Amino acid sequence: MDDQLARLNRLPLRDDLRGQHPYGAPQLDVPIQLNVNENTHGVPEEVQEAIVDAVRSVASGLNRYPDREFTQLRTALAEYLGHGLVPEQLWAANGSNEVLQQILQAFGGPGRSALGFPPTYSMYPLLAAGTGTAYLKGVRADDFELTAGSAARQVRDLAPNVVFLCSPNNPTGTALGLDVVEAVYEAGEASQAVVIVDEAYAEFAHADTESALALLPGRTRLVVTRTMSKAFALAGARLGYLAAAPEVVDALRLVRLPYHLSAITQATALAALRHRESLMAEVEEIKHQRDRIVKELERMGLEPASSDSNFVFFSGLEDPQRIWKGLLDAGVIVRDVGIPGSLRVTAGTAYETTAFLTRLEELLAAEGRLPVA
Ligand SMILES: Cc1ncc(COP(=O)(O)O)c(C=O)c1O
Repeated sequence: MDDQLARLNRLPLRDDLRGQHPYGAPQLDVPIQLNVNENTHGVPEEVQEAIVDAVRSVASGLNRYPDREFTQLRTALAEYLGHGLVPEQLWAANGSNEVLQQILQAFGGPGRSALGFPPTYSMYPLLAAGTGTAYLKGVRADDFELTAGSAARQVRDLAPNVVFLCSPNNPTGTALGLDVVEAVYEAGEASQAVVIVDEAYAEFAHADTESALALLPGRTRLVVTRTMSKAFALAGARLGYLAAAPEVVDALRLVRLPYHLSAITQATALAALRHRESLMAEVEEIKHQRDRIVKELERMGLEPASSDSNFVFFSGLEDPQRIWKGLLDAGVIVRDVGIPGSLRVTAGTAYETTAFLTRLEELLAAEGRLPVA
């Protein structure tokens, strides 16, 4: 990596990109992959078939550019989200990462700033760097909570142009109350901050957790981002989207590349939306495995955070690196997010979750923390 950095530095690279590291979650060939919060339950066969049929039906027209406005997809997404949304309020791109990048291209950029509240999604600072936006690091309480009062005060003090609220938060998994979103929006009035609520994991939330979609009416600077990478098991297809005021969508048209959403992506997303029943059944099973992980980790004397997502962040480890390596040696990869005493694990299938829990318990027992199972 150092050699690579030295080589990069000999290039006429933008000064603000020097010394930056690319996104780099390990992509290892490991049997049980619980490290990047993918949907571990795979694409149901019925959905696979619908996608193949949909892609076949557009294949003969691939000599033409796709529908630049992806009207059919925006209509289907508006219908899926409900909340009285209309297609003019929907926008999509190649993953919510690209949606977030477009928001920064339009509302951030040189001389402007974006505020995030670490620990949070690791791409926010990278997207800020790529668009020449200054990234401001807000603070959370010691238990990673973010209250309405604290968040609003920081927004007033720092006067950012863009605010990232990740709910449920990655890597901690906990959702924000809508009071936080409301308070941040109000506090952002002075700097006219665009407030992004990143709801990548919304479908995994507990029944009483509300979506910020409910707050969209009357709030022109509020943007709610979603993705089909998680609940819809389509991380490989790359389809992220947002709901916001129609004028926000108009602003994004100024920065998107022409025809950025391929006909294949549009057809794939539409097919998955049409077959969402079987996908949502899998979501319920993933939530069950997540709740099982939380319960089992508590039993082992660890401290799992409350999770509204498809992953669990847990603390109370003496040596997380050793546990990470011990799990990897047994063919299970989880994520070390660099927070002392902690790791993050994605909810797997019943088999994968059992393998993770069993190996973890053995490793803790070897440390003398648990009676041997
Ligand atoms: C909080 C959060 N937002 C956005 C994304 C990006 O997802 P995608 O670009 O696949 O839609 C992720 C991916 O892990 C995430 O954790």
